Amino acid sequence: MWPFTGPGAAWLVLYVLTFALHAVFVSYVVGGTVYALVQAVRKPDDAIAERVRDRLPFMLGCGITAGVAPLLFLQLLHQRRFYTANLVAGPRWGAVVPALIVGFYALYLAKASVRLRKVALGVGAGCFVFVAWSWTEIHLLMEDDAAWRAMYAAGRRVYGEASVAPRLLVWLGAMATLFATVSLWWASGAERRRLVVIGVAGRAVAAIACAWLIARGASTEQGAHGWLYLALAALAVEAVGWGWTWVAPGGAGPLLVTGAGTAALVAAAVVREAPRIALLEPPRPAAAEAGGLPLFVVTALAGAAAIAWIVRTVASTPPESGDGDERS
Ligand code: HEM
Repeated sequence: MWPFTGPGAAWLVLYVLTFALHAVFVSYVVGGTVYALVQAVRKPDDAIAERVRDRLPFMLGCGITAGVAPLLFLQLLHQRRFYTANLVAGPRWGAVVPALIVGFYALYLAKASVRLRKVALGVGAGCFVFVAWSWTEIHLLMEDDAAWRAMYAAGRRVYGEASVAPRLLVWLGAMATLFATVSLWWASGAERRRLVVIGVAGRAVAAIACAWLIARGASTEQGAHGWLYLALAALAVEAVGWGWTWVAPGGAGPLLVTGAGTAALVAAAVVREAPRIALLEPPRPAAAEAGGLPLFVVTALAGAAAIAWIVRTVASTPPESGDGDERS
């Protein structure tokens, strides 16, 4: 089925699925940090914000780890384009690493210090939005051969193409909705209603940003129309799920929102890929022939065992008794 045909089909499937997983975790990080910041400014004792602050460092770890898999598949699928865009953007692109480190520490600070909470969350939100912007830039720059030459000749590091802003806005809207979707599962009835507002508002922001892109001439490739309709149908079902959650917060609305939202995310990830399908280059023979399944299985098992050990250790550790002045 389009676009999963041709020599790199398996890599493309894995790319789309792992990218969608990455999107869920980083959405929780961006949406959660902004939510916790807004609540810290409005009032100090919000139960959702407290839960979110607790989970943020872990979720960032998951988001970064879940970014490695699509990164590897991306390099197999678009090796020349990805590395060229990296080199052209140079230090400006490299700035994502210190931004992530600063963001990571800011999340721990926001957990530990009431006094510095607002500043820490503000810094964290700035870092994560910067990283999202960077990925949007590099994604668009990869497809723009003319810009490589122009930027290199002018010594320019920032890809200031006009579709970066609306595309980033689509992502920020989608991130708010994904954050709300994940958070529904840990929320009580009254809290769920607030998350419904965030989820629906996120979709509204994304819709406005899509309209902005369409007004600038964006369109969907013919081959991706089926996936686009699937995404739209899933969004309609998701809307029913949000409505249901609002009316009966304890009912099955969150299940519908999660199922339909997942379908919409995967279908949209395929639509997102459509402009790059024509740019795919045949895999290098060395990459196509590379094996290593036994080594992969051994390292995967070792990784699973290490994670299981960590989860067991954390679960069996009694909670801290003395909270100290700085914690709330
Ligand atoms: C908080 C940190 C991060 C945020 C907020 C973030 C956000 C994003 C966003 C918004 C996109 C989509 C860009 C677009 O379609 O316009 C994206 C793509 C991607 N991200 Fe992340 N990301 C983060 C960290 C990472 C890390 C650490 C890695 C790698 C280890 C990574 C790997 C990827 C990959 C491979 C893609 C696909 C790029 C493409 O297809 O062109 N991300 N990320």
